[in-house]
Amino acid sequence: MDILLFGGSFDPVHNGHYSILETALEYKEFDKIIIMPVGTPGHKAGCKVPFAIRKLMAETAFSKLGVDMEVSSFEGESTERSYSYITVDYLKSLYPGASIYFVIGADSAVNMKTWKKWEYLAQNVTFLVFARDYDDRSLINRAVEEIKVYSPKTTVLKSRVVPVSSTQLRDMIAAEEDFSRWVDGDVAKIIKANHLYAADYYERNLGTARLLVPLMLREKRAQHAFNVEKLAARLAEKYGVDVKKARLAALLHDIMKQADESIMLHRAMQSDIIKRIKGKPVPVLHGFAAADYACREMQIDDSETLMAIKSHTCGRPGMSDLEKVIYLADMLSEERSYPEKENLLKLAWTDLDIAMEQALTDSINWLKEKNGVIDSDSYAALEYFTRLNHGGNTNG
Ligand SMILES: [Fe+2]
Ligand SMILES: [Fe+2]
Repeated sequence: MDILLFGGSFDPVHNGHYSILETALEYKEFDKIIIMPVGTPGHKAGCKVPFAIRKLMAETAFSKLGVDMEVSSFEGESTERSYSYITVDYLKSLYPGASIYFVIGADSAVNMKTWKKWEYLAQNVTFLVFARDYDDRSLINRAVEEIKVYSPKTTVLKSRVVPVSSTQLRDMIAAEEDFSRWVDGDVAKIIKANHLYAADYYERNLGTARLLVPLMLREKRAQHAFNVEKLAARLAEKYGVDVKKARLAALLHDIMKQADESIMLHRAMQSDIIKRIKGKPVPVLHGFAAADYACREMQIDDSETLMAIKSHTCGRPGMSDLEKVIYLADMLSEERSYPEKENLLKLAWTDLDIAMEQALTDSINWLKEKNGVIDSDSYAALEYFTRLNHGGNTNG
């Protein structure tokens, strides 16, 4: 079995990537093509768009090759830093006995010795090195000769020159220039419809978040996120809270709710207030994990938005109005139904602090009925709002 492995950021995928795959397919027939978008574990600002969306764009573009193609989540959802030799080991365990042909650029071949365990990697793959007309051939040939000691069938292929890079494309999109001839038509539609890579912070992040919700959450949970967004925006308007911040926090508040538990816990641990999450019950951690996701995968750095995402599960003393709006919109979203809802909804439209006191009382009571674990922040928050509403010193 011959497998072609093609990794990259694909941020966004463009015709240059497509042309590399076409050239590889002209060179040889493969039984399977595996596209491997990189992840951003532990690193801020690696990619501009979350993995789930880069995967969607790659699937959209490469499905048109008409071959057995799979976009893998192995690196994109890994909690560790990815190395090519680990990815290749993983593929070898999935497809024992397969020959793996690994697409790399000429610059990677030249810098191969900086790759972790490169000799071991080279022993396990055949590299297809893509060189452009203007690359320094003697430099590449020298590097390839050294690689061939471990990977004798390594071959240099000439790539058709598509004069665009993902970085240039992102700049063109942000500048609202026409970029459509550089990317697949359906990928261009995804980018335009969802304002991916737009220059404006809210246009870009709200669009990205709206595309992300149904990719990361199953139907009912996704509908919940959209309902929370609707109510949070109305409450924000009433109370003079920034409506765009409220929409963004609402859309992202449950984004990690249905992730694999190990990924959710890893993200919660990476959250910037690591000391606070120690000892917290697992169900409340998805808020912390979601804030980490917003920060690392989307480069959202507004502390108020991140705090509203974090505190939506258990509240905290001294919550901002934005946090109260998200907490209440989450409890009162359209699809929910419970006996205390009508009263709480009335309070939410009358006074945020009174509503928070009632909301925390209700949630603590439900958890007690279900024998659930109640987080100490919820008790502290209830105490805070009770004092605030009925007099006394809120700091004490
Ligand atoms: Fe939640
Ligand atoms: Fe929620």
